[in-house]
Amino acid sequence: MKHFLSLQEIQSLPSWVSEAVELKKDPYRDHALGRGKVLCLLFFNNSLRTRLSTQKAALHLGMEVMVMNFGSEGWLLEYEDGTIMDQGKAEHVREAAQVIAQYCDIVGIRAFAGLKDRKTDEAEQTLTAFARYAGIPVVNLESSVGHPLQALADAITIAEHNTRKRPKIVLSWAPHPRPLPHAVANSFVEMMKKQDVEFVITNPEGYDLNPEIRQGITVEHDQAKAMEGADFVYTKNWSSFTDYGQVINQDKNWMVTMEKLGKARFMHCLPVRRNVVVEDAVLNSPQSLVLAQANNRTYSAQLVLKKLLQQL
Ligand code: CP
Repeated sequence: MKHFLSLQEIQSLPSWVSEAVELKKDPYRDHALGRGKVLCLLFFNNSLRTRLSTQKAALHLGMEVMVMNFGSEGWLLEYEDGTIMDQGKAEHVREAAQVIAQYCDIVGIRAFAGLKDRKTDEAEQTLTAFARYAGIPVVNLESSVGHPLQALADAITIAEHNTRKRPKIVLSWAPHPRPLPHAVANSFVEMMKKQDVEFVITNPEGYDLNPEIRQGITVEHDQAKAMEGADFVYTKNWSSFTDYGQVINQDKNWMVTMEKLGKARFMHCLPVRRNVVVEDAVLNSPQSLVLAQANNRTYSAQLVLKKLLQQL
């Protein structure tokens, strides 16, 4: 594995999940592996969990960590070649990536979708440019179209709490006042495709995810029907894909409630808007797995960093 840009890097999900579960038992056991190595985390967007859990993972592995809020503190980057840079962008990604690579051994990058233009977002400009020019391993900390570290943490969480041979897992859209990217939902769908589960996506008309990503998956526009008999309900808002990046419906009836959840476990990547996406009672109940998911972010990151360090 040269980089960790997407879930395609995971050859055998069961072995990755069991390795991560083993790491949790003794998080410092590979502390010597990262001694003398530096992880640099570049944030073009806000974060709580990704920022702190990835740092914690690196500390478990004995690495030093540098963090930069690139979006608010770095120079505005130019990505096109041959541009006459006489406008607002002060630095080309070619120099920026190679300079940063001189200061660290692995670089993590968070760069969200702009949600203005689908093709631009799908090009994954920032992640791709760093992978091309840095010459060191790049880790995706959530890009335009994917959040693989989150999906890996979610797979670990499901494995730890599943009691059935083939659980029913539902990904449900929920309302939100702002347009949100598709990255978390995309990666969760891709992760479900790697597992032997009964998987259903439910969302209102007009919110179907990218057809290439949801190919082969049942999409049910009746939320109650989709959630019948569910073991896990993963809730997330995303903006429209067909009417790209738009909020076309904020139907409050799609908020997840205890009544809808039944006996299922509730999952969400966080941050979550209480009483908009999900009611208080769900998050406050023992059926909620959101804290377990957040905890597993450390071990998904640690597993990825460990595998990259082993190849340096
Ligand atoms: N789930 C997640 O990625 O959280 P942050 O945006 O706070 O990092």
